[in-house]
Amino acid sequence: MSVGYCCLGSVPHAAPLLARLFSRAIRNACISDCVSSIPTMDKYEAYENYSDFDDESVWDGGHFRYAKPKQATANRKKPAAVRAALTDFNDDVADWVPTYARPLDPKHHERQWLIDSIGPFFRDNVILDVTRRVKGGKEANVYVCVAHPSAGVELIAAKLYRPRMLRTLKNDAVYKAGRQLRGEDGKLLKGRREKLALAQKTTFGKQLDMTWWIGNEFATQLTLFEAGAAVPRPIRHNGNTILMDYVGDEQMAAPTLIDTSPEPGEAAALFGIIMDNVALMLEHHLVHGDLSPYNILYWDGKPVIIDFPQMVNARTNPHAFELLQRDISRVCAYFARFGVRADPARIARDLWLPYMGEIKS
Ligand SMILES: Nc1ncnc2c1ncn2[C@@H]1O[C@H](COP(=O)(O)OP(=O)(O)O)[C@@H](O)[C@H]1O
Ligand SMILES: [Mg+2]
Repeated sequence: MSVGYCCLGSVPHAAPLLARLFSRAIRNACISDCVSSIPTMDKYEAYENYSDFDDESVWDGGHFRYAKPKQATANRKKPAAVRAALTDFNDDVADWVPTYARPLDPKHHERQWLIDSIGPFFRDNVILDVTRRVKGGKEANVYVCVAHPSAGVELIAAKLYRPRMLRTLKNDAVYKAGRQLRGEDGKLLKGRREKLALAQKTTFGKQLDMTWWIGNEFATQLTLFEAGAAVPRPIRHNGNTILMDYVGDEQMAAPTLIDTSPEPGEAAALFGIIMDNVALMLEHHLVHGDLSPYNILYWDGKPVIIDFPQMVNARTNPHAFELLQRDISRVCAYFARFGVRADPARIARDLWLPYMGEIKS
């Protein structure tokens, strides 16, 4: 659509083998709350501890310095114990150190976090190396990876979320409203155990939570990509990480629109493509929820929309129309600087009505 503005058990000796396989399966499943070798701390908690050291202000030219504890830390694990625990989870890739991480001090938290998060993709022959960090933030880092020849592309972007991303999103009732719980496979979570764990915020519950958000983002991005939207093709997800097509080249990642100044003639066409994508999302009952020139890349003269964890379902989220209006207003405000005149309220209404019917106030 073009928008109106312009455009086994009985076998002897089998038991130990089964026990080993079973414990490995638990580890790999990444949703276990009982890892035998680490009775008091699992992977999620380890990352939470890591995230206490994530403040970039205490990084010292790539060398790790301890931050002053923010609160009484009698029960807090020492970073060495945290790292030891994390390493234990990834015995398959324990020796793998990607190029980007090599200059980092072995004690640097980012190094182990990276190895632990991206290692499974290396083990599964999806990526060969991590060469560069595109962007580091409080909630996620994006890295450039060299793809395995079987991947069909040369470079892959890896987005690694920190546990605090969940805290931020979950505190935002606007985004959470009307969401359904989904597991890593995108299927609805119906189990009593899962719901209880989430409600009680157990370790298992927190892992489920991350799985839910990441799985949701991946599934949404895939739906949009398959529908022909201008979004990077999602490739794989695991734990806290999503792999997707990298936009850019070996020298540089695509800039965001905010760092770009389109020519006046080009601006209207870009605006049209972005609004057509907003319409396409709505056709799939989706509203981006954080659309702005900061979340649109510009490459080869075309826009690419990114960053979907806060995407909402237009049918079930009572704030969807407001979010749609805000998304459109932000894009209009940016393009107004380049001579594109548009009425965001009218565009939002014209888009909403055909797909969603009446606008509830
Ligand atoms: N697929 C991609 N290809 C190239 N760069 C990307 C890609 N995805 C994200 N980036 C870069 O990483 C930055 C952060 O990504 P984004 O998904 O917006 O995360 P957040 O805003 O939550 O930190 C973007 O502004 C962009 O520079
Ligand atoms: Mg962003």
